Amino acid sequence: MTVLITGGAGYIGSHTCVELLNAGYEIVVVDNFSNSYPEALRRVKEITGKNFHEYPIDLLDQEGLESIFLKHKISSVIHFAGLKAVGESVSEPLWYYRNNVIGTIILCEVMKKNDVKNLVFSSSATVYGKPDTVPIPEDSLLKTTNPYGRTKYMIEEILRDVYVADPEWSIARLRYFNPIGAHISGKIGEAPQGTPNNLLPYISQVAVGKLNELKVFGNDYETQDGTGVRDYIHVVDLSIGHVKALEKVESERGVHTYNLGTGRGYSVLEMIEAFEKASGQEISYIVSKRRPGDIPVCFADTRKAFEELGWRAERGINEMCEDAWRWQWRNPEGYHSIEADHQTSLEKESTKFFVAPQQEKVLK
Ligand code: NAD
Ligand code: UD1
Repeated sequence: MTVLITGGAGYIGSHTCVELLNAGYEIVVVDNFSNSYPEALRRVKEITGKNFHEYPIDLLDQEGLESIFLKHKISSVIHFAGLKAVGESVSEPLWYYRNNVIGTIILCEVMKKNDVKNLVFSSSATVYGKPDTVPIPEDSLLKTTNPYGRTKYMIEEILRDVYVADPEWSIARLRYFNPIGAHISGKIGEAPQGTPNNLLPYISQVAVGKLNELKVFGNDYETQDGTGVRDYIHVVDLSIGHVKALEKVESERGVHTYNLGTGRGYSVLEMIEAFEKASGQEISYIVSKRRPGDIPVCFADTRKAFEELGWRAERGINEMCEDAWRWQWRNPEGYHSIEADHQTSLEKESTKFFVAPQQEKVLK
């Protein structure tokens, strides 16, 4: 039996492919590569030494999707495919609703037609909006504040209705907090197109010299040092959480909702300090005004995932920053259609360029 991974070439999807293959699952990947590169999948194969089929298909292409279900005996689906930039969702809401919501509806229709009813879905802590209390438990009020967040909220509701109509379905709705870091090999990681929106990719690009300085969005929040606090989780821990969630949906029908976070918050200044320590690079920054829509503090109540999945995040902030940095300096341009041979020489160049004591450890 095979697990279909939508959006498997993306940041979280590619890391989850590695963990699934390592756990012995057969996988098939579908991705339209709108925000990723086939090179990521080639590297997943290199890391794991395992092969799998990949299809450059858009979820909105119902016939294309159906053809995959005819070719492979799919037992479950992990659904990452979606657009995720908050600002872009405000300026292009229809595109976001079409891609994320309609894409998911088409996927569920094709699954239903083929009698595949196990689904793990990528939701987000963004569905909590500005939380009333922290840590945030799963039964908190949902009050998301932007079109991207509303696509996640709508999909969560649609999936509940699908289950209510047919309790043969088994669905996990996973609310991620802030995934960062990269695979320890330095071969796969987060590769934002254009200037990064999120903190860690931005810091990494300052460290590697691609960007001049970080803007810290506000230092007047009611937090320990005035800067925003978030629950950063290592992408490998998050990926292992998906393997556990898949086991859950395969063994117990229902709609299962879990926070995937660490339960610990770090401020922007703490993240800068941790990254400086991990990379040996100074991160220049200035304090600027608050980013509209930002919340002061957000971190997860993680008890439910631990009690019901036996899962909790193991990797700490230093490991997150070290792994993010290794990925960044080895791949300063991300995947960017780099040929394998070219990549090898580029790695050597990067190594020459950015040698810091922390890196020497990695190079050995
Ligand atoms: P990503 O952009 O790296 O990966 C998403 C993948 O989906 C990309 O490879 C993209 O090409 C593909 N895709 C998008 N629309 C598609 C379509 N219509 N058909 C086929 N493929 C399509 O993002 P990610 O960080 O890996 O996030 C994965 C999922 O997790 C997304 O749904 C995202 O909203 C959600 N999420 C991400 C974060 C985060 O901080 N990264 C936080 C919470 C939730
Ligand atoms: C953002 C999204 C959220 C999404 C999440 C993960 C917004 C308003 N929210 O959340 O919906 O689920 O990413 O993809 O975009 N920061 C800086 N300077 C920067 C970038 C960020 O100071 O250049 C600060 C932010 O103000 C925040 C913290 O760093 O306090 C983390 O920011 P970010 O990585 O963008 O994540 P979220 O704000 O949690």
